[in-house]
Amino acid sequence: MPASVVLGAQWGDEGKGKAIDQLAEQSTWAVRFQGGNNAGHTIVVGDTTLKLHQIPSGVTYDHCNLVLGDGMVIDPWVLEEELDRWHELTGERPEGVRLFISERASVILPFHRLYDGADKVVGTTGRGIGPTYRDRTERVGIRFADIAGIVDDEQALSAQAQRMTKQLSTVGVEEAIDSSSLKSDLQWILDRFGTAIKPTGVMVDIALRNGENVLLEGAQGAMLDIDQGTYPFVTSSVTSRANATHGAGIHPGHVEECFGITKAYTTRVGNGPFPTELSLEEGPGQHMAQIGNEYGTTTGRPRRTGWLDMVALRESNRINGYTGLVVTKLDVLGGLDELKICVGYEMDGKTIHVMPTTSEDLARCKPIYETHVGFPSLSLDEWIEMADSSRNEGTGFDAFPDVIKQYIERIESLAGIPVVSVGVGPDRRASVASKGGPFDFPSAEATF
Ligand code: IMP
Repeated sequence: MPASVVLGAQWGDEGKGKAIDQLAEQSTWAVRFQGGNNAGHTIVVGDTTLKLHQIPSGVTYDHCNLVLGDGMVIDPWVLEEELDRWHELTGERPEGVRLFISERASVILPFHRLYDGADKVVGTTGRGIGPTYRDRTERVGIRFADIAGIVDDEQALSAQAQRMTKQLSTVGVEEAIDSSSLKSDLQWILDRFGTAIKPTGVMVDIALRNGENVLLEGAQGAMLDIDQGTYPFVTSSVTSRANATHGAGIHPGHVEECFGITKAYTTRVGNGPFPTELSLEEGPGQHMAQIGNEYGTTTGRPRRTGWLDMVALRESNRINGYTGLVVTKLDVLGGLDELKICVGYEMDGKTIHVMPTTSEDLARCKPIYETHVGFPSLSLDEWIEMADSSRNEGTGFDAFPDVIKQYIERIESLAGIPVVSVGVGPDRRASVASKGGPFDFPSAEATF
């Protein structure tokens, strides 16, 4: 069986966790291939809310192996917290049993967090992501495979500590990194995670050869891609389909499906241009923020909100070639009189349908909207009832009132991608799948 990719189609926080969680039921491997604990995935099952940063979302199924892949940067201390919380909830300790850390992944150390904390431009999550990728690109970083070799090498430890201290001083951070604390940090990582550190690319390749289903789980979103996003207001990794297999250590030929996850509107955290941005103080922007509870899972920062942007979505499809679109948080739009979709930009008096390359140009773009009739606000129970009826009676999107169906069809035709699932609430059951589509299967019970 092949690999499937799940990607954020916007600026992150699209609700990938829920889609991945649904698909993981059919998979025996869930692999994170880039990013680190700048990601935040929320999974809601019944009364339990799980916030994950590095552990792949497939964790809720005990048949699913979990990989923190080659392309990732991993903070072992945050991983320890996540695993402890998981243990508290379930009694399970998956590390080394079904959770594996790639030997090729890079280690986020206290130095990287301190360095990232000095960022004043991008509005990063401050988790040390950029500095860790920078060390990797400069070929001075420490990968998990390297720890055992360096931990007893006093000369190497001292050279690393000196380099880190010097770099911190260049951004005005006066803290010094000493080689003994570096040594004890690295020793702790080995003691705590040694049995989980594996050649995970080889393991995933074997699983695929054995006919198993593998889920490649993206973090952040297409517009935050280092090469294709709204540079420089982007993350430090390739968030796109092209890196899904590379960052997992397998070849692209394995991929059959690539799902793009988009909210029914748009949000963005951090700095950078956002053409359809609305005010958070009033009107629909405030409605989206309040009803959608738009606060970052990782940093708790309020997310900026705006209408759905088809120019951005088409750009994202150009890069990723989605085979299906998952529209999330449609319920949040309930209660708004009218809904807008941005179908083009006006820049310097001209209408354009392609995103300009520079953030300066993008900041000058004004959205061109088409307007649709709104639909009433419903309770979560009412949405779940609609989703259940769609599932039980096999009616797909026909379970929706006409006005919603038309809105979905319009997104589909503007994006040129079939919509395969629509999220109508945070609960695992609160999704309506397209009839006969890849999400059209009964929702499973959580194994915790
Ligand atoms: P970094 O990834 O921490 O370096 O942050 C770079 C930019 O990406 C900032 O604007 C962050 O707010 C944004 N960002 C990073 N991770 C996420 C995410 O998972 N969701 C949404 N935005 C993110």
